[in-house]
Amino acid sequence: MPASTAVTVDIHLDERDLRAALERDVRSGLSSSPKRIPPTWFYDEEGSRLFEEITALPEYYPTRAERALLERHAHEVADAARADTLVELGAGSCDKTRLLLDAVEQAGTLSSYVPFDVSAEFLRDAAGSIADQYPQVQVHAVVGDFLVHLDRIPTAGRRLVAFLGGTIGNLAPAQRKRFLDALRSTMAHTDALLLGTDLVKDRGRIIAAYDDAAGVTARFNRNVLNVMNQALGATFDPDRFEHVVRWDERNQWIEMRLRATEPLTVAIQQLAMSVEFESGEELRTEISAKFTPAGIAAELGAAGFAVDRQWGADEGEFLLTLARPLG
Ligand code: AVJ
Repeated sequence: MPASTAVTVDIHLDERDLRAALERDVRSGLSSSPKRIPPTWFYDEEGSRLFEEITALPEYYPTRAERALLERHAHEVADAARADTLVELGAGSCDKTRLLLDAVEQAGTLSSYVPFDVSAEFLRDAAGSIADQYPQVQVHAVVGDFLVHLDRIPTAGRRLVAFLGGTIGNLAPAQRKRFLDALRSTMAHTDALLLGTDLVKDRGRIIAAYDDAAGVTARFNRNVLNVMNQALGATFDPDRFEHVVRWDERNQWIEMRLRATEPLTVAIQQLAMSVEFESGEELRTEISAKFTPAGIAAELGAAGFAVDRQWGADEGEFLLTLARPLG
């Protein structure tokens, strides 16, 4: 296999770490009030498949909108960044990666690609196929949690760090601040950050994107119950939970929840705990914050970045922001 020689994979997070993190999140999230579980745990194999399905739904505009922006503007990003290393946080399915890689390659500067993700399995495959397709490019995959292991990402070269998909919206403001501060502290003045964020818009459109007519997002949401059933021997019956989507106007974020349709007692066998749900009680499974161009610029500014350019601000669907560390 030619790919294996061109790919290195650093692992900072193994199965045991992930398991410990799940146990911690479930133990504390399900014993707090209101109940919650972080969206990280949606993405087992089935959850990742369902998310891919979501990205193709007519109501789910963010993926298409971001892709269109990259198709139109990736060459401007590449010309501005003049990077030799593309770092991608939360490497995703890699087709957006190719748009950026192509643009940086055409700018004539690309020598390495550093995909960063929590899933080793996923990264190995993605990194291998990128290495096959870009034989001149060194692929150095890093497995880690972007809230913990940013300092393990190689800093050599002139880097373009991409964080796409709107995933930063899964973080609450204080967490975003911590993340951006930590990221800023790993970046040199010659580096650049490309951030993809969903924009505030008509609330009906936003809600529809998380409550599609075909019910795919509802299945995606309930899948987190199966994840707990499988990993922790929990006894959730997904049929007894309704998919709930709410727009939080004050915080400007979407919340997904699972609402118990009747009083329930759920055992989480491997944690030796049992959890009571009242009828109608909700478990919060995700926040997905929406932004304004000025709001993003302010958050970046507070973390020591200056906005270089923004694309998409006028169309109002989705936003790409290119920023640099402030002097
Ligand atoms: C992958 C976090 C960007 O918040 O829109 C899609 C996940 N949740 N539908 C988003 C998601 C429900 C998605 N992100």
